[in-house]
Amino acid sequence: MMTSRIIGTGSFVPTKTVSNFDLSELVDTNNDWIVERTGIVNRRIAQTDSTVSLAVKAALAAIENASIKPDEIDLIIVATFTPDNAMPNTACEVQKAIGAYHAFCFDLNAACSGFIYALQTAHVYLKSGMSQTALVIGAETISRIIDWKDRSTCILFGDGAGAVIVKQDSHGIIDILSGSDGSKGEFLTQPYAHLTTPFSNSDSSSILPYLKMDGQEIFKFAVRKVPETILTLTTRANITPTQIQHYLLHQANKRIIHAVAKRLQVKEECFSMNLEKYGNTSAASIPILLDELNRMGKLKEKEYLIFSGFGGGLTWGTILLQW
Ligand code: ACO
Repeated sequence: MMTSRIIGTGSFVPTKTVSNFDLSELVDTNNDWIVERTGIVNRRIAQTDSTVSLAVKAALAAIENASIKPDEIDLIIVATFTPDNAMPNTACEVQKAIGAYHAFCFDLNAACSGFIYALQTAHVYLKSGMSQTALVIGAETISRIIDWKDRSTCILFGDGAGAVIVKQDSHGIIDILSGSDGSKGEFLTQPYAHLTTPFSNSDSSSILPYLKMDGQEIFKFAVRKVPETILTLTTRANITPTQIQHYLLHQANKRIIHAVAKRLQVKEECFSMNLEKYGNTSAASIPILLDELNRMGKLKEKEYLIFSGFGGGLTWGTILLQW
């Protein structure tokens, strides 16, 4: 039976490294607290890069890795909650920059689950035959919506982009389980700054577009939902969690990842991590990690992989695939 398969990966992070020590000069925090609670040591912060430029660099690396030409791509989906502009969308800007003239292009926002939702969407287009070659990107410049005076959030995030090329093949994606719970949306928010119109009765000009988070609620949600979806998928595929060679979870926090490993009774070594270098890059975190593993030659054909994302919305999504 035909499914869709990742045939190339790419990623790009800004060159500027900001350490926990650098942040302790901005806010009342320290390296030990951040490392112990999160596992994060450094993050990359855009200085001249934008969400589009990060996405383009990751996309070009994925195209080269897949050995395809940009004009073969007929679908581009960019997962982001930090686009440079509302119009044109990020995916159209990427199309222009890489010369993917035959693609139709749109952005998708599911916060930190964005890459999972975007890959799921591309999979559906490929399975239906409406697309042959998809470019799926997660790209974020979260540094631009952070309150750099808020120590509870500014220590957590970083900027970056990851991309994959997906095509139809006889093995690849096995199963997907995504979900949303809008009733808990208040736990992770980032409002738009709106202009006041001559007709509005309320003044929204004082609303600042900062990310706000109830860390403990997000923590509880993640450690419950991620293992639950993984167990559903492994049960449906008639395999056990210990048969998965590589778990690629959204890189938010090492304690969440360790808690998931414990619940699944799987060795922590099966859970790859790079959050110590990049912090939480939201929709970009899973494809950046995937690209690093791929380029290190750590992924062997037909091995089982799990991708699992969770975040604002609330949203979550898990994909079981064979490499
Ligand atoms: N440095 C030092 N102290 C701090 C810092 C800091 N950077 N931030 C908070 N504190 C203080 C608090 O003020 C509090 O002090 P108090 O006890 O005097 O009030 C104390 O540390 C404990 O704060 P908590 O918020 O209870 O700390 P917690 O152990 O919950 O850790 C954290 C916070 C790391 C955010 C944790 O809740 C977490 O990891 N949550 C998950 C968040 C997450 O992963 N979000 C991303 C997923 S969704 C997405 O990617 C968009």
